[in-house]
Amino acid sequence: MQKPVILTGVRSNADLTLGNLLGAILPLVRLQQKYSQNYQINAFLPDLHSIIGTNDFNDLYERTILTVRTYAAAGLDLKNTNTSIYRQSYVPAHSELAWILDCFIYYGELSRMTQFKEKSENSDSVIVGIFNYPALMAADILLYDASYVPVGEDQRQHLELTRDVAIRMNNQFGDIFTVPKTWAEQMQFNNAGARIRSLKHPEQKMSKSIQDPSGTILLSDNPKDAREKVLASTTDSVGSINYDYINQPGISNLLQIISVIENKPIDDVVSKWRGESSYSKLKQEAADLVEDLLTNFQSSLAGITDQDALSALMAHEQNINQVANAKLKLIQTKVGLRASLND
Ligand code: TRP
Repeated sequence: MQKPVILTGVRSNADLTLGNLLGAILPLVRLQQKYSQNYQINAFLPDLHSIIGTNDFNDLYERTILTVRTYAAAGLDLKNTNTSIYRQSYVPAHSELAWILDCFIYYGELSRMTQFKEKSENSDSVIVGIFNYPALMAADILLYDASYVPVGEDQRQHLELTRDVAIRMNNQFGDIFTVPKTWAEQMQFNNAGARIRSLKHPEQKMSKSIQDPSGTILLSDNPKDAREKVLASTTDSVGSINYDYINQPGISNLLQIISVIENKPIDDVVSKWRGESSYSKLKQEAADLVEDLLTNFQSSLAGITDQDALSALMAHEQNINQVANAKLKLIQTKVGLRASLND
């Protein structure tokens, strides 16, 4: 019996932030630590998605390698044989399957996708790739018969479309695909990622794309400077510590940061601090944790070379291409492109 597959897309960005580390990277590291015995984990880099509507072609390749080093520095074991780490563009079956799926997905379905509507609104030069994005995403998932796909709420519609096309093709051709679990069933693996807020403007997400240097901690920041940013973070005048993003977003953000770094449920952290009125102690604790985390992260990163990342990728890509090609052949056979699996 094949193990159930958990599949996740690891986007490569320049200048990753503490928000990325706590919201996406550490959750994946912990997913691997906790589940790689009983599940196959596919952590792939959707670089073909990254070239949609960007002008950032020059350093895409290097960013992808840096992303792999970053994950490794955060604790992802690149050599774990139950975790496949690969670039989408190095597994051509993704694009081939995307085309086949294109022939079973309706124009109306893709037109209704919120992400497409938002990105194409008020623009008179919409790239076909933006429209077609969910078909490639469905291919990423269905090619490996993934059951679990931990993604944010913004990707929910795409996941549902993936289920729809899988069910549609299964009805027509017999069981070709494992249908990914419903959104509700996904929650088992989907609730780990915290959304870390700006330290200066805690009503908004921490993001390098807004001009907010004192609210944003980059993973490349000096750990002492990062500490200062936490100590200087915006709080409120309520005078007690509560986990309440409406009235105390800054305090709630600090509690969240502590919870993720210590890998403790938020309720435990909240009950530890309840009744405490000094914000400065809370800030001190968060600042210590962030400083240590960054110090350790940066020293690990320095010990992992581009070559280490590249060698790991190439080994995984060699294996995963076999898995992907076998599945593609089966699909091609079912839809009549090949006479048999041996053909
Ligand atoms: N669309 C995802 C995002 O924006 C990235 C992605 C591409 C992905 N293909 C995927 C995620 C397949 C999960 C599964 O975050």
